Amino acid sequence: MVSIKLLKNLVTDSMAIDMGTASTIIAVKGRDIVLDEPSLVAVNEVTGEVVAFGKEAADMQGREGRDIVVVAPLSGGVVADFDRTKKMLAHFVKKAKSGGSQVVTHAVIGMPSEVTPVEQRALLNAAEEANISKVFIMEEGLAAAFGAGISPHDKRASAVVDIGASTTNVAVVAKGNIIHSKSERIGSADINIALATHVRRHRGLQIGEETTEKLKTEFATTYLPEDLGKSTVVRGRDVITGTPAAIEITVGEIYPVIEDIVRRIALLISDVLTELRPEVAADIHDRGILLTGGGALLHGIDLYLRDRVNLPVLVADEPRYATVRGLLQMFDEPLLLEKVARREPYFLQGAETPFET
Ligand SMILES: Nc1ncnc2c1ncn2[C@@H]1O[C@H](COP(=O)(O)OP(=O)(O)OP(=O)(O)O)[C@@H](O)[C@H]1O
Ligand SMILES: [Mg+2]
Repeated sequence: MVSIKLLKNLVTDSMAIDMGTASTIIAVKGRDIVLDEPSLVAVNEVTGEVVAFGKEAADMQGREGRDIVVVAPLSGGVVADFDRTKKMLAHFVKKAKSGGSQVVTHAVIGMPSEVTPVEQRALLNAAEEANISKVFIMEEGLAAAFGAGISPHDKRASAVVDIGASTTNVAVVAKGNIIHSKSERIGSADINIALATHVRRHRGLQIGEETTEKLKTEFATTYLPEDLGKSTVVRGRDVITGTPAAIEITVGEIYPVIEDIVRRIALLISDVLTELRPEVAADIHDRGILLTGGGALLHGIDLYLRDRVNLPVLVADEPRYATVRGLLQMFDEPLLLEKVARREPYFLQGAETPFET
């Protein structure tokens, strides 16, 4: 008996998949994070064929060959380009698998709360194409909360703000349920757009995505430093002459550009905080707010939000991995998974029971 069970475990991958607009992150039970790649595909425009995925596609971005275009098949956390999402997911799942094709894959996949049935169906089809035999769909807000360390059995309320690339989601959870949530299509990628636009319009320099990302992650801050004159050099293409060029830019110059976006995130949080019932408000006042998602890594964002919403603000450990770790935890709590999974668990390819225990 035992040996059969062991054998079964050996050939089943329990996979958690957080497919975001910017990155796809996969964790496997027993192996933690096994894949973290940009949600990008490189397509040959002439043949329509996908020539690269993930990191490899990202490396081509901005320096593509003539016929190659790099596209992001997801938008706002949902499937925008079905065919390419399908291929991308299949590629990543295959890469994340422990062994050969005989390995059965069970997966919990995160989805934004506001997803429509059509979008959900698209994701399920994509999962089927990726050879996932059993798939559960769970709300990302809840997964982020669990992954950030909130116990599903805690009766008191906690607030988790996930700042992704394109979406910010505020979730208030208690006892393993979302009791309030709100999201808006604003995220860390909006900072990139604002920065690139500013540099182009006010400094006459066109900068690429890689340069913009570097400016944001390595130089930008949303908490004003003592020295506003601290500067860095950015390179790109002169708008007027078209030639390669560089400019020097200061913290003081880009602060207002970034603040413009982060302020909107603060407003969304403040909005939610005014909609809570008294007991819930009391819990949140006591505990403050937890930040997850890549946007939480922006320098100074915790301090900025703390001042704006007047509550303690903490960044979760490895905030980009909170959602996927929360999804992965569900394999240890099958009862909870059945409770939180959207509708019934989906059985693809003739699987029988949700969990063999
Ligand atoms: N060190 C950093 N400083 C600032 N921003 C960062 C840092 N690291 C990552 N980011 C930003 O975090 C964002 C990606 O976060 P995340 O991986 O949570 O998004 P996602 O889940 O793919 O998106 P979404 O949830 O909107 O679908 C990107 O916009 C990226 O630029
Ligand atoms: Mg996300």
